[in-house]
Amino acid sequence: MEKIVSLSKRRGFIFQSSEVYGGLNGFWDYGPLGAELKRNIKECWWRSMTQLRDDVVGLEASIIMHPRIWEASGHTSTFSDLMVDCLLTKKRFRADQVEPQSGIAYFYTGATESTQGKESKDAFSVLVPRGKPPESARYAARNFYQQRGLENPVLLGERSEPVENTIRYNPENGSLLTEPRPFNLMLKTYVGPVESADNVAYLRPETAQAIFAQFKNVLEVSRQKVPFGIAQVGKAFRNEINPRNFTFRSREFEQMELEFFIRPDEAVEAIHGSVAKPAAAGHPGEPQPNWGWQIWHQYWVEERLRFYENIGLPRNSLVEYWQKADELAHYARATVDILYKFPFSKRDDKGELMGEELEGVAARSDFDLSQHQRFAGKPMTVFDEELKTAWSKLSAEKQSELSERYFQARAKYLTKAGEPAEKAEKLGRADADLLAKGYYVPHVIEPSAGVDRLALALICNAYCEDQAPDDKGKLESRVVMKLHPRIAPTKVAVFPLLKNKPELVKKAKEVRDLLRSHMTVFYDEAGAIGRRYRRQDEAGTPYGVTVDFETLGEQGPDLKDTVTLRDRDAMTQERVRISELRALLSAKIR
Ligand code: GAP
Repeated sequence: MEKIVSLSKRRGFIFQSSEVYGGLNGFWDYGPLGAELKRNIKECWWRSMTQLRDDVVGLEASIIMHPRIWEASGHTSTFSDLMVDCLLTKKRFRADQVEPQSGIAYFYTGATESTQGKESKDAFSVLVPRGKPPESARYAARNFYQQRGLENPVLLGERSEPVENTIRYNPENGSLLTEPRPFNLMLKTYVGPVESADNVAYLRPETAQAIFAQFKNVLEVSRQKVPFGIAQVGKAFRNEINPRNFTFRSREFEQMELEFFIRPDEAVEAIHGSVAKPAAAGHPGEPQPNWGWQIWHQYWVEERLRFYENIGLPRNSLVEYWQKADELAHYARATVDILYKFPFSKRDDKGELMGEELEGVAARSDFDLSQHQRFAGKPMTVFDEELKTAWSKLSAEKQSELSERYFQARAKYLTKAGEPAEKAEKLGRADADLLAKGYYVPHVIEPSAGVDRLALALICNAYCEDQAPDDKGKLESRVVMKLHPRIAPTKVAVFPLLKNKPELVKKAKEVRDLLRSHMTVFYDEAGAIGRRYRRQDEAGTPYGVTVDFETLGEQGPDLKDTVTLRDRDAMTQERVRISELRALLSAKIR
């Protein structure tokens, strides 16, 4: 990671935010290459999720939204992590991320200060590894009481006991931690000039909620019918307690989220007689009208894995992690986390990298739209003509079976959402009646990815050190960023062989201009050609075009108007006609 962080800064992929002022923890800036890389990631995602599909449309919503949205989504009440502070250094940790430790715990009831007549009755405790003398605990404890104003504290009531697998102490210095306290991760602000409770608003912690809040508007204008999706790319903000691992956990980041709305299984069964479920592992193929939520979920997991492979993350660097029942959000039916094996990931018993989350693909039932329906008091149901027609043709027995199942699911949601049993029963029955008339709240599958995490994964994956010949053919070590041509910041570098030959320079600039409106081109005439290649290798530029004397026709008419095309990874060079260059490169980077 050190090499990657250093290259990111040296070559202008990623800088620390506000670096001239010492930086700001959890915030990052993308330099010239990083900005292009991020744009390419977002464009690839947008293109594959919306432009190449008939059933997904886009949205670009505001970052600050009505605060009731966050009440409905559950972020106001539950988007909080339990956190603990170190009593000595004040460093903050997520309670569930403190590593369990064992050792001897030393306890103190307080301390006195004889010269000033001061005392502190604050209890304190320190954990030291077995075999270490008690003096290190006393040193830390004196430090604690000095921070409470006792210049030369005398410790009181020392006692010790062995402890096993405790998470009450700071793993870095053994100091006692505070009791876990909830900490809301949303960044608060005020809308308008008055900083009053009425004007509180939040920077969105995810882009997803705007999609749910605008669901009806998008449905109306887009002429889509369920199943269909709404995609959004944009900034999200979380006041992370412990930003870490370079950009992996930041306080400001970008998400790429799709909410894909589907029929409830009861509606699918009413229309098609049965619900198709996953038959085998892997991609289930082209979407079919009789798909239930499970197969739609599998479809999106597989689509997303294909996406990552298509931009250069090999399948064996990714992990498909199925959340266990006790890890699932209460409304989720299934969630698959797509993990990438970052260099900082933990290792399993066999020493294999376990991976860290790049994206979550969640089957969220009809929870989100139902919440907004209740909180905003506006229907989020859709009318499904096919369902209405099919329902009227079902036997009374089938109608009542499906109706009962739908009622049970709705009543369960309403009860969990806090509605009293009687009301949940009444509303659930009303929802089941609506289903029979062709109305329902769509269910949703949500593939939710992070742009910054993906950029970091691509950078980690691309970093390579190998050997390449210098100008005299001698092998030297090189750093090369093997970024996939689809996401590489610069697609092609154009070089005149020599800077001081006006004909070469003129021709090279012509080639640059020929390519420029079709791809990102970098023109470089400074230094030996080998050095120029090396610079582009570090920047991840997949192709290099050199204009030489053959191009000018000095080696005969056959080679006139040809250039050498160098491949960054294979380091091969081929001669290509300038007239064919644009089409050839366009095909390689598409
Ligand atoms: N709407 C669902 C949602 O927001 P999430 O798992 O909290 O789910 C989705 O976030 C993705 O957003 C993650 O998989 C990750 O790629 C990215 N993400 C979340 N928190 C992040 C952070 N603090 N820094 C960088 N990326 C983050």
